[in-house]
Amino acid sequence: MIITIDGPAAAGKGTLAATLAEKYRLAYFDTGMVYRAVGLEMVLQELDVHDQDSAARIASEMTFVKMMELSRHPDFRTDIGGQAASIVSAHPAVRSALLKMQQDFSHNPTFADGTPANGAVYDGRDTGTVVCPDADIKFFITAGPEVRAKRRYDEFVQKGVAADFEKVLADMIARDKRDSERATAPLKPADDAVILDTSALTADQVAEQTVAYIEAHRH
Ligand code: C5P
Repeated sequence: MIITIDGPAAAGKGTLAATLAEKYRLAYFDTGMVYRAVGLEMVLQELDVHDQDSAARIASEMTFVKMMELSRHPDFRTDIGGQAASIVSAHPAVRSALLKMQQDFSHNPTFADGTPANGAVYDGRDTGTVVCPDADIKFFITAGPEVRAKRRYDEFVQKGVAADFEKVLADMIARDKRDSERATAPLKPADDAVILDTSALTADQVAEQTVAYIEAHRH
């Protein structure tokens, strides 16, 4: 079974993906990681993230192993990694260079230790529209910008990372705008996706509603 979960930043995609992965023994691919890896690698090499040609070169050299290595860098999950990811992900050549790596995962999904999984759950912006258009189940998870900024801000506080709410909100709105307005694979629900607004829902309620849908629709 292949499940895709798309939506804007901090809508609850990652939490839901982890819950569904555990319940159905699915391997989890957080596709934001491929763009964070390219963005961070460019920052580390002091390259201009707005330069499509060098971004495309870094993307074409990116491997799954290298991405996992970069994911351990302290800036991978911070706004530095997020902003760089958002800028490089708007380059069409970067997206096409990273597409096969993401699609290959669904052909033979395995857990980190190499054991085979029952399928895969993807989270990202275009996993239901571009990466896995034939997925069995597609969700589009959203929530208002203030709610999402508050969730991201709370995550930073919990991790002991210094954060300013207004800045988190402004960065989130800028990323939403870039993700929704880019010409290639913009953030939008697939025609056959179930759209869920999580603004007033707890993570448990989101899990309950999506599991009920999966149970009713899986073949
Ligand atoms: O989900 P995450 O915040 O890690 O994603 C980082 C950035 O990567 C997003 O802001 C978005 O611009 C980009 N992205 C994308 N397509 C995906 C996943 C992420 O363009 N499938």
